[in-house]
Amino acid sequence: MTTVVTGAHGLVGSRVVARLKGERVIAVGREELDLRQPERIAAFLADVRPDGIIHCGAMTDVDACEKDPETAWAVNAAAVAALAKGRARLTALSTDYVFDGVKGDYSEEDAPNPQSAYARSKLAGELAALSLSRDRAVCRVALVYSGYPAAKRTFASAALEALRKGEPVRAFADQIGSPTLADNAAEMVIAVHRSGEQGVFHCGGATQVSRVDFAS
Ligand SMILES: NC(=O)c1ccc[n+]([C@@H]2O[C@H](COP(=O)([O-])OP(=O)(O)OC[C@H]3O[C@@H](n4cnc5c(N)ncnc54)[C@H](OP(=O)(O)O)[C@@H]3O)[C@@H](O)[C@H]2O)c1
Repeated sequence: MTTVVTGAHGLVGSRVVARLKGERVIAVGREELDLRQPERIAAFLADVRPDGIIHCGAMTDVDACEKDPETAWAVNAAAVAALAKGRARLTALSTDYVFDGVKGDYSEEDAPNPQSAYARSKLAGELAALSLSRDRAVCRVALVYSGYPAAKRTFASAALEALRKGEPVRAFADQIGSPTLADNAAEMVIAVHRSGEQGVFHCGGATQVSRVDFAS
């Protein structure tokens, strides 16, 4: 069984790759497979013929997506459509940002209502996976943090950095999320991938906290 992991150098993707150690994994980052080029994705899949794809690659900078929705769409939606056209089982990562935050305590049955270019492109990616692949799962993760020193800067690491310097941390009191350790996200995503189950799965942490409480 050959599994392709995209976004292999990212917060979650790197932990997925680490957890699949010993298995036949093709870990690809931006250098190996640029997700803005669907024709390259098709050629890559035809060449590698993987059995499974765990798709962690994404344009995750919310502000950059707002400024450049076309690239957000290419990376977060069109690339998923290209990955979904292969014969491999596809597990595509998505986000709690597909919801508007009004109701809270979301389940997989709740209707998405994305509020940003990032969130709209991620929802489009979900629909591409669900519509175009015959064997697929969407794993929504939330507010990911990581304990690894080399990991990408996150809200948690930025807060820690500021506190260590004795600087104040600014955080919203009315933004509620379920912080998810990158390793736990990887564990859940791999479990969903291996289960063979179809559809959308929430893979966030078990607690619901405001950003202020999370920082504390
Ligand atoms: N982090 C969170 O709090 C969070 C919350 C909810 C959902 N998610 C979702 O979880 C998944 C994994 O996110 P993450 O936190 O691991 O994000 P991340 O650390 O930003 O990883 C995403 C990876 O995608 C790569 N990438 C970006 N543009 C690319 C392109 N054009 N071609 C190829 N690779 C490209 C990035 O490479 P570079 O490093 O070279 O840019 C990066 O390694 C994503 O689907 C994200 O939407 C994350």
